Amino acid sequence: MSNESIQVQGIMKRYGSLLAVEDVSFNVGQGEFVSLLGPSGCGKTTTLRMIAGFVDPSGGVLRVHGRDVTHLPPEKRELGFVFQNYALWPHMTVAENVAFGLKLRKKSRNFIRDKVAESLSTTGLSGYEDRLPRQLSGGQQQRVALARALALEPQVLLMDEPLSNLDRALRVTMRRELKELQARMKMTTLYVTHDQEEALSMSNRVVIMNKGRVEQVAAPYELYENPATSFVADFVGITNFLEGIVAGADGERLAVKLVSGQVLRAVNKKPVAPGTKVRALIRPERVTLKTGRIDGDNVLTGQVILSEYFGALLRYSMRLDSGDILRAEVHNFDSVIENGTRVWICALPEHVRVIAHEKGV
Ligand SMILES: Nc1ncnc2c1ncn2[C@@H]1O[C@H](COP(=O)(O)OP(=O)(O)OP(=O)(O)O)[C@@H](O)[C@H]1O
Ligand SMILES: [Mg+2]
Repeated sequence: MSNESIQVQGIMKRYGSLLAVEDVSFNVGQGEFVSLLGPSGCGKTTTLRMIAGFVDPSGGVLRVHGRDVTHLPPEKRELGFVFQNYALWPHMTVAENVAFGLKLRKKSRNFIRDKVAESLSTTGLSGYEDRLPRQLSGGQQQRVALARALALEPQVLLMDEPLSNLDRALRVTMRRELKELQARMKMTTLYVTHDQEEALSMSNRVVIMNKGRVEQVAAPYELYENPATSFVADFVGITNFLEGIVAGADGERLAVKLVSGQVLRAVNKKPVAPGTKVRALIRPERVTLKTGRIDGDNVLTGQVILSEYFGALLRYSMRLDSGDILRAEVHNFDSVIENGTRVWICALPEHVRVIAHEKGV
């Protein structure tokens, strides 16, 4: 048997003339935490609801632990689900909310009592049994929704933006608690979010979606350091793009001739043939900035046009002599460079990536 808990193969969903999800494929391994990340409307919820069984796919195959569940009703899939809006029963106490699914499954009274106590303890809610949802904070309500899903002992937990209704401080705390719980219980988890920080910090792997399609599936570090497409580079973090053409290639080492005529050296995992039109990509934190002349490879010149002070870090925007705008982020600084100052800018070749222009661009 394969080690994959969830297998999504070429899944699609058509709503009239709209293809909400178009040929999406990825797997989630046993005990793995995978996030679906992408902008609003890209098809994350639709994909998750197809896996859960609430939306009927127009094509493709879904497997849970090797079993084809594509056309099974939700209750036959052995999946847990946590919705964005918690969907707690307002007239039921915390304990009754958590017990609800177990009662539907006709579990014994003793079993239900023990399971409710266990789920509430796991989520840090012991002592809140008799409260109504409206007597709880947002974070506590969120935990009740989680406890309710856990009580059913799902092999796989699906969550749709479970933290998006919480304020930032609580979201960060809950993010850690949730991740800690998931790791402790070794629970296979598929998590939908449009918050990249959430996806990067919690996941083993992230599926980046755009317009109903998958752009890249990779570990957070890979996504950030080696984005497969311009969309991923732009969506995950902030990045600088400089247009050019590959003038020379020696394995991973590339020379990119920029539109300005200057040559930028880059190191790219994926080989790119000479003559290919590309975008050179430099993350702002990889840019070194000096107010005096520096020599060597990959030195660009320009002028600071904006400096933004954030306490622990400084962000500069520069207009290069080529006219391009380049952004830099500096963490250990002794002084602030004033607007209008001429600067020498350098990025090491191993910090410059290259993305070939996608067809039709
Ligand atoms: N029941 C439906 N009928 C028609 N179109 C729908 C339906 N559900 C979703 N869509 C459309 O499908 C597309 C994908 O929607 P989906 O809810 O999956 O996006 P999402 O990635 O979850 O976005 P968000 O981050 O805003 O929650 C959208 O264009 C949406 O309008
Ligand atoms: Mg959604």
